[in-house]
Amino acid sequence: MVAFPTETVYGLGADATNGQAVARIFAAKGRPSFNPLIVHVPDIDAARALVVWPDLAEMLAHAFWPGPLTLVLPLKDNTPIASLVTAGLASLAIRVPATSTAQALLKAVGRPVAAPSANPSGRISATSANHVLAGLEGRIDAVLDDGPCTVGVESTIVGLTDDAPRLLRPGGLPVDSLEHALGQPLAAAQDSITAPGQLASHYAPGAPVRLNARTAHPDEVHLGFGTVSGDMTLSVSGDLHEAAAKLFDCLHQLDRTGRPIAVAPIPEAGLGLAINDRLRRASAPRD
Ligand code: TXA
Ligand code: MG
Repeated sequence: MVAFPTETVYGLGADATNGQAVARIFAAKGRPSFNPLIVHVPDIDAARALVVWPDLAEMLAHAFWPGPLTLVLPLKDNTPIASLVTAGLASLAIRVPATSTAQALLKAVGRPVAAPSANPSGRISATSANHVLAGLEGRIDAVLDDGPCTVGVESTIVGLTDDAPRLLRPGGLPVDSLEHALGQPLAAAQDSITAPGQLASHYAPGAPVRLNARTAHPDEVHLGFGTVSGDMTLSVSGDLHEAAAKLFDCLHQLDRTGRPIAVAPIPEAGLGLAINDRLRRASAPRD
């Protein structure tokens, strides 16, 4: 069980064909239940071997792989994927990550690698090897350190299991880029499965998080964006790519202050959709 860098976040990888290895991922993360995982492969051919591959998948894969896009497709019969990876579903989430370290790892392993984000369940995702160790040291075998992730939020997930392509999770590939390539709007997710990234409270720091804060209360630390400078900023210039790349690192740093966190408004456009999705879950009431 080895954590490795992708362009989105660090993943906690294990052999997707080995049920016991996959079970160790759930144990290390402390995931409350067995939710389906994303399988990582080095190229399109390796993906085609595992899932039913419609023309839309071919088009999107050519446009955006390797990159921050996950496709959910019907699982082929008789694949070697452990059933724990799909939580028994008939579909598989699959992606081709872009970093050279991930590519080298996947080619060396020669098998599909299941990898959720490399953080304890429900907590802030890891965008550096230090974040991984802060959450999981002693519970995993190793982490491959290749510096900070360039995208910084998890992949955009698109479901291709029925007639309409569906947005299952906003992420590092902006929705407008996808819709432009598809030539049609993405349909909304049908709430068929409950997965951790879709839980109301997720990506959560220890302290409370307050959103759309142009100013901070005296006890709060303030995360700025653009003209709202804060104690620390996601991007002085209001650049959403820079903000996505810094999001989880800023939350890790502010979390260490032990104080409540106020976050400046982020525009609901482009990568702002994914950033706001993660921030809303980080600020949601916890059980
Ligand atoms: O960027 C990413 O996607 C990162 C890096 C490591 O690749 N991985 C990641 O994995 O975010 P994880 O386990 O934290 O999120 C997996 C999500 C689930 O929350 C669920 O929404 C979706 O993938 N998923 C997995 N299998 C699915 C399926 N068969 N049908 C629908 N959604 C599925
Ligand atoms: Mg996650």
